[in-house]
Parts: sequence; C-alpha cells; structure tokens
Amino acid sequence: MGHAPANPAPRHVAVIMDGNGRWARNRGLPRKAGHRAGAESVRQAVEACLERGVEFLTLYAFSSENWNRPPKEIDALMGLLEDFLRSKRREFKKQNVRLRTIGRTHLLPPSCREELAKAIQETAQNTGLTIILALSYGSREEITDATRRVALKIKNNELEPDAISPETIAAHLDTADFPDPDLLIRTSGELRLSNFLLWQLSYAEFFISTRNWPDFRKADFLEALEIYSRRQRRFGRVSAS
Ligand code: FPP
Repeated sequence: MGHAPANPAPRHVAVIMDGNGRWARNRGLPRKAGHRAGAESVRQAVEACLERGVEFLTLYAFSSENWNRPPKEIDALMGLLEDFLRSKRREFKKQNVRLRTIGRTHLLPPSCREELAKAIQETAQNTGLTIILALSYGSREEITDATRRVALKIKNNELEPDAISPETIAAHLDTADFPDPDLLIRTSGELRLSNFLLWQLSYAEFFISTRNWPDFRKADFLEALEIYSRRQRRFGRVSAS
C-alpha cells in the first residue's frame, strides 16, 4: 500500500553551499575553480526548484565573515556573481523567476551592486520562483539592524514596547517579504548554522549532505526535496493521526 507524502514540496528552501574550497583542493585546483564549479550547482538547484514548484530559494552566497578572505578570493566570488547575473537575466524573465537579496548589500562593490539592481528591477514583476541571494549576510547583523529599526519606531512614538510581538521582529528583518524556510540544505557534512537565518530557521527541517557543493547537483537537490516530503513536521505539537 502506497503512503501519501507527509508534506507537499517545500515552499521555501534555504541552502548553505559549503565545500567549494575542499572540492578544489581535492583536485589540486585553485579555490576559484571550486567557486566556479559551485556556480554550476546553483544553476542546477534553480532547475530543480522550477521543476518541483518551490516558491522561494535562499542561497548563502557571501557571508559577513567572508569579507575576511583574501582579496583575490573575494574578487573571484564577486566576479562569478556578476557573470551569473549577466548570463541569467534574460533566462530569469523567460522562467518567470524573480531575484531578491538579503544582507548588507550596500557593502558590495559598485559593479556588483549595478548588476544586482538591474536583475532585481527587471524581474520584479515575475511571479514564479523567487531566488533570494544572501550577500554580505549575517543573521546576527540582520537581527541587530532590525532591532535598530524597531527602536527608532519606539523613539518616534510610532510603536509601544508592549506591542512588540514575534511578528513585529519578523517584519523588520531583511526577510520580511518571505515565508520562513521549510527546508535547510547544507553540503560538505558540516553541522553548523554559521550565522545563517537564525530566526527564520526555527522550524525548518535540516538536510545535510556529505557532498561538497560543486558535487551537489540537480539529482541531489531533488533527493533532498523527496526526503523532506516524507518527514513529519510537528511544530512542537504531538503528531496527527
Ligand atoms: C563555501 O565554500 C562557498 C562560498 C563561500 C561561496 C558560494 C558561492 C558560489 C557557489 C558561487 C557563486 C554564487 C552564485 C549565486 C552564482 P568554501 O569556500 O567555504 O569551501 P571550504 O569550506 O571547502 O573552503
């Protein structure tokens, strides 16, 4: 007797794309080559999401902490991001994909900000998959910025302290326009959140793959969605049935 999946496809998948450097090292290649191969896995992840009707895909593309990497590697990552945006803009329009960002993107190099602004503007009306790039993103920084915005409203008598609810906090985060992720995928076997969506992942299911991100291709992404669909989510309640 067949069992119906416990869950439909996740609405929102968040991904920590880890292991590009290790993938490159294992092959005696520069780290940049790992990031380039990782960009191809991004394309395949997008295809998987389009195929399964995932509505939101958040990708941890550059963390606040990544600013501490050597300038050469930072340049390579920004260059890859720009290439990705340039090569994908027309396709995003065709695929009904909308692009958004979270994080302190004002810190990114001007050329990168320009490509982002163009892609965001040109895809703003699209209603299919929303790709959310986390860039210069750190969850503690995001919560700090949100707290400042809430404090300012209190100072300006627009908000009473007693009126602050979890919804108030959520509405002041960079992710205010998006539902919480249902599924977190992390590659390269690490069991850490690494300052990613600390608030938003409260009830997410985790899928950890031992593969490095450049080896995590469409079939692996589809497998993660499939495994998710068989999990029972309880949100702190007792299970139904
Ligand atoms: C982690 O691997 C990955 C990153 C810091 C960057 C992710 C970027 C991409 C996949 C490419 C460009 C992005 C887009 C959206 C086209 P790591 O370098 O920390 O690997 P390691 O832990 O093995 O050193």
